[in-house]
Amino acid sequence: MTLKKGVIFSGIQPSGTIHVGNYLGAIRNWVALLPEYEGIFCIVDYHAITVPYDPAAMQERIFDAAVVNISCGLDPGKCSLFVQSEVPEHTELAWILNCITPIGELERMTQFKTKSEQHRDSVNMGLLDYPVLQAADILLYKAVAVPVGEDQAQHLELSREIARKFNRRFGDFFPEPATLFSETLKVLGVDGKSKMSKSMGNDIGILADPKEVWERLRISVTDENRKRRQDPGDPAVCNVFTMHKGFSRAGDLAIIQAGCRNATLGCVDCKKILRDRIEELVAPFREKAAELRANPALVRGVLAEGAARCRKIAQKTMEQVRSRIGLR
Ligand code: TYM
Repeated sequence: MTLKKGVIFSGIQPSGTIHVGNYLGAIRNWVALLPEYEGIFCIVDYHAITVPYDPAAMQERIFDAAVVNISCGLDPGKCSLFVQSEVPEHTELAWILNCITPIGELERMTQFKTKSEQHRDSVNMGLLDYPVLQAADILLYKAVAVPVGEDQAQHLELSREIARKFNRRFGDFFPEPATLFSETLKVLGVDGKSKMSKSMGNDIGILADPKEVWERLRISVTDENRKRRQDPGDPAVCNVFTMHKGFSRAGDLAIIQAGCRNATLGCVDCKKILRDRIEELVAPFREKAAELRANPALVRGVLAEGAARCRKIAQKTMEQVRSRIGLR
């Protein structure tokens, strides 16, 4: 057995359909990194309650997040997958980290500013404190690296800063977790402008069937300067091409790129090729998801096992943390 390089930790919110951005920016990389690292992946329900949500739908969303992650290749035999609130040490460590995190650092977080704008009526403490809970998630397992999309870069910088602050004050303890990006830093939504996101309604579900995928791709904005079919386009500014880079083979990419640049390939045909490439990859994922949905006990078992494993690690870390900071 080869020795692994340490723990990678990452999380995903159970806040709606898991989309192409989540897959290309994060999940695919989680799967790819498993031979090298010990993987711990978390469905972060405590993070998901920082914005308005439907309590009656929460358990179903958590279940669905587990199903989609496993179906997309996250093999529970090779990593731990669990639900955040089943390991209460996450919130306990977050409280302790709160006591060394300056409020100013949290107020300047871009995601806090955006979400405060989106949810003006519920700018709560949880929303401000979100990145501290995220730091706790990571540090609890002494993760050495965190695979995420580009949108999480600022939160991870803060996680490292919090680790440094803790280590300075209480002695060297937490590793500073590195940020690991996948080849796709950021997928935009069908509007071609804002980040693809569950809350913006501009997403393409990763397990959507080809008809749904086509409905979304059909309206997807490409290079806005390409007004007519005969105009040459620029793949570098086209979100459909960003997705091609995620789903198509290198040889095809060169042909698509050339065809766009010399206008022999129109946007509609380019999108149809993308639809087919997505379908080739995800058809087996959808089958796997159907199997898992038909066997909820198996999925719940995976989550329970993951939580049991993680609880042990988390409890050990917390004993050490409490002792370092002068409690119990
Ligand atoms: P969440 O649920 O928004 O997204 C899960 C993962 O998907 C990535 N991602 C994207 N990547 C590229 N393009 C996009 N359009 C796109 N949209 C989402 C995200 O970067 C993320 O990696 N705060 C985190 C959850 C979290 C976490 C953690 C992550 C909580 N604790 C600890 C890492 C470590 C979030 O909201 O992810």
